[in-house]
Order: sequence, then structure tokens, then C-alpha cells
Amino acid sequence: MADTFAVDSLSLNAVAHVDETKGHDETGNGSAELPYQTAARALQVHGDGAKILVWKAAAAGTDEVSAYVPISGAALKKAVKKVAELEKKAKKQAEQASEQAAKDKAAAEERERVLEAAKAIVLTEDPALPAAQKIKIRNGVENRGKRVKVSGWVHRLRVQGKNMTFIILRDGTGYLQCVLTDTLCQTFDALTLTLESTVTVYGVINELPEGKTAPDNHELTVDYWECIGKAPGGEEAMSNKVNENSDPSVKYDLRHLVLREEKASGILKVRSQVMKAFRDHFDNRGFTEVTPPAMVQTSVEGGSTLFELNYYNEKAYLTQSSQLYLETCLPSLGDVYCLAESFRAEKSHTRRHLSEYTHCEAEMAFISFNDLLEQLEEMVCDVIDRTLAHKPSADIIYKLNPGFKKPERPFLRMDYTEAIQYLKDNNIKKEDGTFYEVGEDIPEAPERAMTDKINRPIFLCRFPAEIKSFYMKRCPENNALTESVDVLMPGVGEIVGGSMRISDLEELMAAYTREGLDPNPYYWFTEQRKYGTSEHGGFGLGVERYIAWLLNLHTVRDACLYPRFTGRAFP
Ligand code: 4AD
Repeated sequence: MADTFAVDSLSLNAVAHVDETKGHDETGNGSAELPYQTAARALQVHGDGAKILVWKAAAAGTDEVSAYVPISGAALKKAVKKVAELEKKAKKQAEQASEQAAKDKAAAEERERVLEAAKAIVLTEDPALPAAQKIKIRNGVENRGKRVKVSGWVHRLRVQGKNMTFIILRDGTGYLQCVLTDTLCQTFDALTLTLESTVTVYGVINELPEGKTAPDNHELTVDYWECIGKAPGGEEAMSNKVNENSDPSVKYDLRHLVLREEKASGILKVRSQVMKAFRDHFDNRGFTEVTPPAMVQTSVEGGSTLFELNYYNEKAYLTQSSQLYLETCLPSLGDVYCLAESFRAEKSHTRRHLSEYTHCEAEMAFISFNDLLEQLEEMVCDVIDRTLAHKPSADIIYKLNPGFKKPERPFLRMDYTEAIQYLKDNNIKKEDGTFYEVGEDIPEAPERAMTDKINRPIFLCRFPAEIKSFYMKRCPENNALTESVDVLMPGVGEIVGGSMRISDLEELMAAYTREGLDPNPYYWFTEQRKYGTSEHGGFGLGVERYIAWLLNLHTVRDACLYPRFTGRAFP
């Protein structure tokens, strides 16, 4: 009757103590100090011959004393019955477990047998069939009805009985449903196929009959296929390593696998079109694209966010902005732009800050501040139109951001001083409860609160000189302000920073002094004012922020291939 519980110091068939309130069947051992909770347990452990003593608490207000007393006849009978019940139950459970084990063993043996037999099934391509033409999935529609060959990764897999298996194949250009029937789905490779394995399928793509759905509304009926590389299943399966619910840090560690998911790859596809749209926009307007250096020896946006590097034992930095280089191109190339990486050693660990980001910067000569604003608005909107004109990108945009609406033009134009007033009027305050005053920088949180409340793109203009960069031109009407602009978008905040640039040599020299900058390393920039100056201006747009706005992403990190931010420069 005894089972595996420890009995400790108390020997079997001795006295067993039971206390219904303080005892414990699992941790008790039957001693007066560690009693059991039930008499059934005492019988189970110590056998029928045990003398069972039950704790009896004295009734209140009597002379009785609390003590262990011999179990009553009725209670003992009940306990014996309970033990019988428990034994019956345990026996049944053991029988069930052994039945299941036998079933599992038989199933494993059967699978072994089927797999062994499957090894004998060798597929061959029917030489009587027309030669298959190699295609990419995106070209499926125009190749319907012909025999084709498609290679890709098993994105989804559904086995339907012994004679039918469905594969959703992914090749980076789209998704294709493939159906394998009869011997095609009974080979060893078919039976052991896993998600993310690579295969080449041969067959004919046919439109699906009404009522059935699959990507592009068609399906490839496979007549021959090959497994190229099998991905692991079980513990090592990709879906077990990372999935939607994984911790963000795991997702970034395994970004190479995450990129295979529909959302992540969809974002990158839209990103590619957005980059193309920027290039087409500028190309269409006669701008020349240039490729400025990433390793530099001057700062653009202040020293605090510079990444320093040892450049052949000289101090150098990763560029914060290509603006100064673009300015030098104006006399030779006219209007110029670049789509290049900028680097910021950001202290801010926010969802809109990266350490490395793609910066779309443009510079134009002989323009006014108003021309600059017009060009900016035109660019933001034209890039949306161009991206939406690409149907696959439009589909992804509306899937990820169903509420997306093209912004209304003209954008709201608001001066910095008006923004300070807006914050006051709308009770948007600093953490210490005071209001922002003219001359103070408007940080991310209040700027976002204002932008989200106004809920349309804002051109925030004419910031005070002391909170902006050294190169910015002063407003002719107010020398304390600059001809500067930040473009603010609902949900993301600032996506563009731009300005007119100081065109006068003396004024620029004074600006270096005021900012405590040594003008010597900037000689090449300064000389733009010496060898034929011009009124000019430009801007820089953070591509990841633009995409985050377009696709309503929570963070700019998801708009990058491999994001770089505080503490992460891998993989
Ligand atoms: O406002 P910023 O610092 O302006 C400049 O760098 C100018 N020199 C650009 C120019 O006039 N050619 O940066 C411009 C834009 C910001 O509005 C933002 O979209 C993006 O660059 N940006 C960042 N994006 C992601 N992570 C960061 N750490 C960023 N810092 C700036």
C-alpha cells in the first residue's frame, strides 16, 4: 500500500498521526510534529496495521484538552474506502498511460516504416512533358497555363491526408500556392518537409475556381519537385526560435530570420519603392545625385552626437549629415541630393532615434525660404504619389496602415513663436509644470503632443538662432530668428529639418566664433561664400521616420534592414 513518498524517521506499521487542519499529505511523515492531513494517506503509507491517531481540538469553554486520539471506527472505515478508490484511480491512470505509450510506440514504428518505404519512391521528371520555363513568382499571372519551374522557401505547409499537400512558396517576389498529389507527396522528402526548406517545383499554374482563395488567385499543380535544402523542424524550427510574441531583443538578435516574415519583408519592399520614389522625384526635377563621404573631420549638427573614429591616428567622425558637402556641389552640379547614411551617437533611447539612419538630403541654389518650403511640400507629397502608383507597395501600405490618407495641401505653416503660444493655449507643459518660453527648445514629447492634436503635417518655421545650427540664415525681418523649418508628422513627429544657409562670408565667420568652432577645418565649406556666393538652402529627411509615418510603425527600428541603436550594432 505504501507509495514513493518519503517516510523519514517513522517506521511502517507504527503510529501515524493525522491533523485535518495543520497536517499535510505530501510533506507530512505521520509523526506528531509532521502529521498527515487525511487518514487515507496514513493508511496508504503505513499499511492497514498502523495505529492512527487523529488530532482532536478541545471544544471552546470546556475542560477538554486538545490531543491526538485513536481514530473512530466510522472514520477508519471511510479512510479504507477512500484508499480503495484512490488505488482504483491510480491503476486506471497507469493503464491509460501504458496504452498511450503503446500507441505512441506503434505510431513511431509505423512512421518509421512509412518513411523507410517512402525512400523507395523516387520521383522522375516526365520527359514527355514540355520543358519547364524558370520564372519568379511575381510573373506567375502571365505564365499561367504553361509548364514552369519555380524555386523558393516553404512559407506555409498543409498536409491534407495521404494524397495531398499544399505548400505556400515564397521567393521574395511573391507567394505561390503549390499543390502536390499522390506519389509527389509520399516521398521521403515530402513526408519530412519543414517550413523554410528550399524547393524547386515544376508544373502548371492555373486560375482557381470561384470560392477558392490563394495568393494571386491561382495555384501551381506540381508534376515534379525537388527538395534543395531542408530546414530543421522541432526545437530548432524557425517558428520555435522567434515568433510574433518573442521579446523585442530576441527579434533583433534573430533579425535575419524575422526578415522572412510577411510584415518585415513588406516594410522593406515599401522602403525600396520609397527610395526609388525619392530618386525619381529629384531626377524628374533635374537634381544630380551625389555620394558624399561617410568619414569626415567636421561636425554639422554639434559635437554631442558625433561618433569618433581613429583615422590613421587622426581624429575623424562618422558623418551626421552630408549637407555641407552638398553645398559645395551647387556651383558645379546645380541642385543636388543624396540618399546616404548619417550617424548619430544619440543619447536618446526613443522609438524614433537610430544611431545610423538613411538621410535624404537636398540642396538648392538661388532660392528663397518660401521656395524651399514649396519644394519640401512637393517632395513629401510626390513621393507618396509615386509610391502608391506602385500597386504592390500600395497594397502593403493599405494593409499595414488601413487608415492612411494622403495629407492635404497646403501643409499648415506655423512659426516657432506660434507653437510656443499653442503649447500654452493647450496647457502642454514641461515636466516641472511650467510652460515653454520663447528661446527654449521644444523637446520631443510636447512637439508630439502638439502634432498629434493638430493631426496634420506642420511646417514649423523660424526657430531662434541660439537653438539651431551654426549655418542657418537669419530672418531678414527678425535677426534673432532663422529661416529654418522642421516638418512634423502626426504619430512620428519631426521627419525633416531644413533651412536657408548663411550666404555671407563675414556672417559665417562670426557664426563659427559664436559657436566656438575652429573655422580652419571648414575652409572648403567657407569658400563657397568666397568664390561666388548664392542664396541657397536645403533639408534633410529621415527616411526611416518617413516610412514609420507612411506605414504607421511603432518604431523607426522596424523600417531598417538591421537597425542600429544604443547598445546594438549586430547582427
Ligand atoms: O534635423 P537634422 O539634424 O538636420 C540635419 O542634419 C541637416 N543638416 C539636414 C539638412 O539640412 N541637410 O536631421 C534631419 C532629419 C530629422 O528631421 C530626422 O528625420 C532625421 O534626420 N534624424 C534621425 N532619424 C533617425 N534617428 C536619428 N537619430 C535622427 N536624427 C535625425
